[in-house]
Amino acid sequence: MQDTRISRRAVMMGAGAAAAWLASPARALLQAVGQIEVPAFVDQLIGRMTLEEKAGQLQLMASAWGGGAALTLNPPGSGSDFQQQVNEARQGLLTGVFNGNGSRMARSLQAAAVKESRMKIPMIFAADIIHGHRTIFPVPLAEVASFEPDLARRTAEAAAFEASGAGIDWTFSPMVDVARDQRWGRGVEGGGEDPLLGELFAAARVHGFQGADLKSNEHMLACIKHFAAYGAGESGLDYNVVDMSMRRLREVYLKPYEAGFKAGALSAMASFNEINGVPSTGNHWLMTNLLRGEWGFKGFVVSDYTGDEEMIAAGYARDGRDAAKLAFLAGVDMSMQSGLYRQHLPALVQSGDVPEAMLNTSVRRVLALKAMLGLFDDPFRRIDEKREASRSMLPTARALAREAGRKAIVLLKNDGDLLPLPRSGKRIALIGPFAAGAHDLVGPWVVYGDDSKAVDLASGVRAAVADPRLVTVTQGSDVEEPLAGGLAQAVAAARAADLVVLAIGESSEMSGEAQSRTEIVVPPPQQQLAEAVAAVGKPIVVVLKHGRALALEGAVANAPAILATWFLGTETGNAIADVLFGVHGPSGRLPASFPWKSGQEPYYYAHKPTGRPNPPGELQPYKAHFRGIPNSARYPFGHGLTYGKIEYSGLRLSAPSMPMTGSIEIAATVTNRGTRAAEEVAQLYIHDRVASVTRPVRELKAFRKVALPPGQSEVVRFTLTPADLIFYGLDDRPIAEPGSFDVWIAPSAEAEGVRGSFDLLA
Ligand code: BGC
Repeated sequence: MQDTRISRRAVMMGAGAAAAWLASPARALLQAVGQIEVPAFVDQLIGRMTLEEKAGQLQLMASAWGGGAALTLNPPGSGSDFQQQVNEARQGLLTGVFNGNGSRMARSLQAAAVKESRMKIPMIFAADIIHGHRTIFPVPLAEVASFEPDLARRTAEAAAFEASGAGIDWTFSPMVDVARDQRWGRGVEGGGEDPLLGELFAAARVHGFQGADLKSNEHMLACIKHFAAYGAGESGLDYNVVDMSMRRLREVYLKPYEAGFKAGALSAMASFNEINGVPSTGNHWLMTNLLRGEWGFKGFVVSDYTGDEEMIAAGYARDGRDAAKLAFLAGVDMSMQSGLYRQHLPALVQSGDVPEAMLNTSVRRVLALKAMLGLFDDPFRRIDEKREASRSMLPTARALAREAGRKAIVLLKNDGDLLPLPRSGKRIALIGPFAAGAHDLVGPWVVYGDDSKAVDLASGVRAAVADPRLVTVTQGSDVEEPLAGGLAQAVAAARAADLVVLAIGESSEMSGEAQSRTEIVVPPPQQQLAEAVAAVGKPIVVVLKHGRALALEGAVANAPAILATWFLGTETGNAIADVLFGVHGPSGRLPASFPWKSGQEPYYYAHKPTGRPNPPGELQPYKAHFRGIPNSARYPFGHGLTYGKIEYSGLRLSAPSMPMTGSIEIAATVTNRGTRAAEEVAQLYIHDRVASVTRPVRELKAFRKVALPPGQSEVVRFTLTPADLIFYGLDDRPIAEPGSFDVWIAPSAEAEGVRGSFDLLA
């Protein structure tokens, strides 16, 4: 059922993106989970392997080349650790390494494995190719703001092209954890707060990374992570526990993982967190009953980095042996980094704690994937120093990074049509820690990218204006500390200019793993900078850098124009300049709600109404809201302005009701009454008025991006079927209940747009 829902929604996306999506082989891959082919020689190999060699095929380690997980192309470090890994490869005790250093490193390990080991089984090389290899695309969350899944397919494909040229067979991506608490630092790697967007982007990225044939030297194996519900850790604290109803798990958190598997992903990574008392890494229900039993997953599961060993500290495993046993019996085929599998699995089999048949099954999965990647045919197929260089940062990849960058930008506010800026005749003061410099451009989770090869804001703006001498750059503040004399310099720069572009927000380090924040605000020294600059009285365009939705305050919130620009990667400055000066109209929409205040977190649009919702208008006592602010977002999910003036009108339903076996068409007219072209994302939301379990105030069911020249209208049409109205009932089974539904076609999750209703008949 899931797969047809996805493909139907893809149909509803409409316009160019949908056409590309439908035409792509991804659609075929959405029909069923990926299958694995097990060549006959795999079982012959397994028949000849020792227990130690079998366990070795299930042990993955960080590359020791250059002293550990590489951040740059390092030469080998002292050499001893890497030499030890080469020896392990020779002994057949290592299935592969991750985050290594390109073809030269891969070549030496692969040679040891296939020329000197007893079984001659090739190694697999993995890496965190999260949003690019050397050409860095926008962080995944930013890319989701494009509301264009096919864009994510294209950037994943471009990343796979570069990375597979550099010896990498397998990416630890896509990360598809739904994140509804913006304090969590890793929301930046994922698909935002909504399950539908999460599904579509998960599937698109899998298709981009894997292509139609894993053997192709231009694609690589995708890995759905972090399975499961890693984004739901209590209070947004990384690694924290998850305790939630099965209904919420299935309706929200599990959906993007399932979509990724249905798109053909053939590996999965276990999450660090526990769910309802059981760590994912030791969770048999999750890894076996659900993943393999219910969903039919055929690939292999890897633990996260020492995730098996961490069950000891979590109080679930007694010791390393117990942890290896629990993880393996739960269904985690491969261990990352702890070394526990190769250390304990042979003895666990000998003692009868782990059946050898199970060990063989996991080894079979891993070897089958290595075969599907073409590694048995040619273990060096992705290892080629010349090809590595010739594929790196090509103009086509940079152009795609720029396109993705500008499509990711969200115009939050544009009072008095301050934007777009004129390209000539104005003195522009670029102020703030992110105004210039080779830092914080590529963003978090970049193993091989390089800020020094990226375009900063100042360079992008100078290249875009007629006279670069009219542009000044003033830092004003550090990211989290004041800068001596900074405020005075910034005030002087603002006074000497006609307008200010204030580049403030979060550094790369403030999001990503283990970077949860208690307050999701612009850091205080930068807020002071904004207050001081605003007091000068010049028009201000705030250009935010951020890895999460923020709670904007004071002069930042009050600035007439605000652009959410995330971390846009290699082409940051050019992409922002494209939008600032109107070469490209802003078309991004928020994949995560910007709350009024940090204390509202977790805030997400699809919340329940409660028994005491505040009626529209003034805040009322004894209603569900925090003191002084409404129970809504400052900028909700789906919000994003254009340089046009968009109006919604004329909601039409094909019938007042829909039979259980039928469908209903819902249409509205979207008009651009402005003087500039616009790209609008029309969003269809529903609300189930009364049900046997309470339902969210709104749920996104479809969206469509339409290009509207000035004065032009377009009718957007969507088709819903009862499958779109399904929720998990009291017995945790999917059900579509008869009753009345509100429906909106609207520019955001909290905008009225146009509204109607229909009944689902019994
Ligand atoms: C992260 C994973 C990542 C792995 C390998 C872990 O700490 O949680 O997302 O793939 O490290 O780098």
